[in-house]
Amino acid sequence: MSKPYFEFFCPVKTIAGHKALEHMPFELQALGSSRPLIITDVGVRKAGLLEQVLPVFKEAGTEIADIYDNVPPDSSTDTVTEIAALYRSKNADSIIAIGGGSVIDTSKGVNILVSEGGDDIHKYSGAGVLTRPLKPLFVVPTTAGTGSEVTAIAVVSDCKTGAKLPFASQFLLPNAAVLDPRMTLTLPPAITAATAMDAMTHAMESYICLAKNPLSDAYGTQAIRKISENILHVMDNPQDANGRLELALAATMAGIAFSNSMVGLVHALGHALGAICHLPHGICMNIFLPYVLEYNMETSSELIGELLLPLAGPEVYASTPKPMRAERTLQRVRALRDELYERVKLPRRLSETGKVTRDQIPQLAKLSLDEGPVLFNPKEMELAEAIALLERAW
Ligand SMILES: [Fe+2]
Repeated sequence: MSKPYFEFFCPVKTIAGHKALEHMPFELQALGSSRPLIITDVGVRKAGLLEQVLPVFKEAGTEIADIYDNVPPDSSTDTVTEIAALYRSKNADSIIAIGGGSVIDTSKGVNILVSEGGDDIHKYSGAGVLTRPLKPLFVVPTTAGTGSEVTAIAVVSDCKTGAKLPFASQFLLPNAAVLDPRMTLTLPPAITAATAMDAMTHAMESYICLAKNPLSDAYGTQAIRKISENILHVMDNPQDANGRLELALAATMAGIAFSNSMVGLVHALGHALGAICHLPHGICMNIFLPYVLEYNMETSSELIGELLLPLAGPEVYASTPKPMRAERTLQRVRALRDELYERVKLPRRLSETGKVTRDQIPQLAKLSLDEGPVLFNPKEMELAEAIALLERAW
């Protein structure tokens, strides 16, 4: 039965395909923009990805206002202010973000300042502070994982205090997500694996979380199927453009799913682990996913069992008796992690990271319980349970 009430919102235009980049100038013009500022990072520049983008605009006769290619791995308020000043001095009228989570969040922050005016990003922090549409923002993801191209949130680090400033507003949603496999072809295998497992976690948590709804279910399950069908093939054939496009689509679909249904304990634990031990987000997701599914089995075994269909396909699903499906889902997730470990040593346990000590577990447990996603997990968690789960994941 469907929920008695839910909301679902995603106004982001998806522009996807092997020649998606070529559509950008026209799509920007349709929004009245003719001088985009490109925001990216050194890694994207060094990987030669701008060479895929710039000729497209040259050919279309669209002038690029400027290129800012120095976004740090953790977006900061200083960087946002610096880029906003560049945007104004170059008379830009729109933003193209090319990169991963930090570039996209930074670009969302820049868009607040250049649209609302001023240099103080702090006053726009929080939920629902923005009240009107911002400048056109196109996002070209260069990883297939975060889903930030379709989320209404951004996190920017305060460069003075180190605190993470959250921003949440429907006006932060980009105008378009441009998914072109040429932008992820050179992604190293270890990052391909970690980011795909982030997307897998978004999709699975969206299906199990308390705010799940029929529309997020549709996006989430199809994202799981695409990741499951393509991740190992792409690991073994990194230049396979079709597989890369499938993973990019899956990450965006998982992003649409979780931004409408929230995420749960995998993210709560993962945020704590990332903050304390400075591990990449995708690795944190890969570690905790099966342990959290196991923890949620008591409340959500039927839903976890339903995930076997997109994860393993119709034959496995049909041949597995209903009471066994949830356990089989868990087995498949563990088997996938083993395959990834074999290929790129993607850590499956805290002890395999080399960056966590066992005596940090109580601190990790405590911090994870302060995380917002705890509220959306189907099963509540006390401190002792968090410690026990982290011990199992050791
Ligand atoms: Fe995530």
